[in-house]
Amino acid sequence: MVTHAAAARASMRRGQRDRLAFSGVAFTDDSKDRVRDAVDIVELISARTELRRSGPDGFMGRCPFHEERTASFSVSPSKKVYYCFGCQARGDVFTFVQETEGVDFTAALELLAERYRVTLEREAENPEQVRRRERRDRLLALLARTSNYYIEVLWRSGQAERAREYLRSRGLQEEVLRDFRVGFAPSGYDHVLLGSQRAGYTEAELRATGLTTISQQNGRPYDRFRERIVFPLADGRGRVLGFGARALRENQRPKYLNTADGEIYHKGRHLYGADVARAHAARAGVVILCEGYTDVIALHQAGLRHAVGSMGTALTDDQVGELARLAPTVLLAHDGDPSGQEALAKAAELIASRRLELRVVQLPAGRDPADLVQHEGSEAVAELVQRAVPFVRFRVERVLAGGDLRTPEGRDAALQALRPVFAGLPPSVMQQELVRLVASRLELSEALTSSLLAGAGPAAGAAASMATARGRGGEDGNEAAAGRPAPVRRSPLDRREQTERHFLALCVARPEGGAAALAALDLDAYFTGPLERRAAGHLRARLAAPREGLDPDDVELAQLIDELAVRAGALEPTAMALELESLQLDLARIDRQMQAARVERSGEVAALAAERDRVRRAVEDAIERVMGEV
Ligand code: UTP
Ligand code: MN
Repeated sequence: MVTHAAAARASMRRGQRDRLAFSGVAFTDDSKDRVRDAVDIVELISARTELRRSGPDGFMGRCPFHEERTASFSVSPSKKVYYCFGCQARGDVFTFVQETEGVDFTAALELLAERYRVTLEREAENPEQVRRRERRDRLLALLARTSNYYIEVLWRSGQAERAREYLRSRGLQEEVLRDFRVGFAPSGYDHVLLGSQRAGYTEAELRATGLTTISQQNGRPYDRFRERIVFPLADGRGRVLGFGARALRENQRPKYLNTADGEIYHKGRHLYGADVARAHAARAGVVILCEGYTDVIALHQAGLRHAVGSMGTALTDDQVGELARLAPTVLLAHDGDPSGQEALAKAAELIASRRLELRVVQLPAGRDPADLVQHEGSEAVAELVQRAVPFVRFRVERVLAGGDLRTPEGRDAALQALRPVFAGLPPSVMQQELVRLVASRLELSEALTSSLLAGAGPAAGAAASMATARGRGGEDGNEAAAGRPAPVRRSPLDRREQTERHFLALCVARPEGGAAALAALDLDAYFTGPLERRAAGHLRARLAAPREGLDPDDVELAQLIDELAVRAGALEPTAMALELESLQLDLARIDRQMQAARVERSGEVAALAAERDRVRRAVEDAIERVMGEV
């Protein structure tokens, strides 16, 4: 049985680690002892599992840390420790809160101190530590009050009506939006600046939180977030560190403006929604990872309260660490578009290096979780999540869905792509099941499939001789990738179309730069829509007078040219804007080529991925420069 001292040492070690992580939040050992003394461990644990007295100093119950029918979980009220004979879970009041709430030691200490009304004392700090902690506290308080201000504006101000309407149109409800403290930053240049100054905060403090930016023209500060819906980014304990701010107007760029790295906020260190999802993920033992802010919120609204977001960028090591602290199983629910699927593959690679179970939620092409909740409903999404497949199965299905399995060449290509997948798979029931899956799709015997996958056997000949003509009917590989027959509804705003048209409109708005940009493009590679491609071809020669030279019978093209002219009128045609739009167009092109390349050889995918990273970085640079210029 675990001793009190051992448990205490364990929690001390954890405490020391946390102290490093949260510089400045160090409580005295005496505080910890007083909290431990004050806690009624039987009451604490009874909230999670029913306990019954057993013996002079003991309680037993079913273990809250593993599934079981018989009671193997024992609690000692005098020693204030617990131990499970079934799964060996052990610890004290602090570890219990850490494990069940998914928080770190300091948070567990604070939580228990609050619940059992113990006043915590900090360890003696030197003046420098005091200064640092007090500064940090002030900056966090400034962020918290600004977040509250944005929330007030969203729900009360007339100016935010369009924002409220937008959120409604996305199917998001007030209750969940309030859970996530979503707000609205009004359109003026100094609401936050002046309000915060009146409350005693300095310009320097505002700068340090990233709430204001310095104008390069006159050196004066102004509000960074204007006329945007703001999503607060909080740490695991719910303290607001920064914001992601979504554009409301169509020509407002970038679509999301995030708090820049600074004293408090560091990009890539946190997961969006971790504070809200934490307890749910701990209880479920599962965390869902998606890309966007709205995805996370929509999933919570659908009752999937264990969802968090990576906030679009490539997953970082810090974020993987955070995932591991949330739950042992991670479900990847990335957008069903090429870039989402590429991000998924990368995330999987990173996560695979930890001992986490990895599954993939297969979203229909072109959809993200938020779309799905809105258009298919909570139950359909919950079912998709329920049907998440192990990552290795996902890889196999992706190869099968991507290849043309009707021809011997296509089937050989699929086998070749599958070999490395199977090479990493130990002999197991799963492996057998996957061999069976491949065999049935390729219409080969299991034995032959097995040997072909291992790289042995007369690959080409065997596959060819077994080939039989087959239709695409119910066996269509895409069905597997979609998880369910994909609804063939077109989204109202096709993203590619938007990107292409936006770029063209900017060319119209800025003819000199536009002509040069258009001249440099291979229209077939950059424009997917035939109409957009024709418009680009037409505009190439006539940017100065777009309506001239149009075929009077080509009504479609004339309409698009008119639409582009109208859009152009609403744009601010800076060189930077044009540069940004060219980059967006390039990203879309790379995504398409990646999708095509993935079916063939992986070497090209890697090169494209690298190219994509470069363009993505260029986009971020450009955005930073735009922000400095306003
Ligand atoms: P998406 O482009 O998929 O946006 O980017 P979304 O979340 O579906 O957006 P809505 O639903 O239209 O509002 C996914 C995530 O990538 C980050 C954001 O975190 C976004 O939620 N992102 C995207 C940025 O940080 N900056 C951008 O310009 C775009
Ligand atoms: Mn999305």
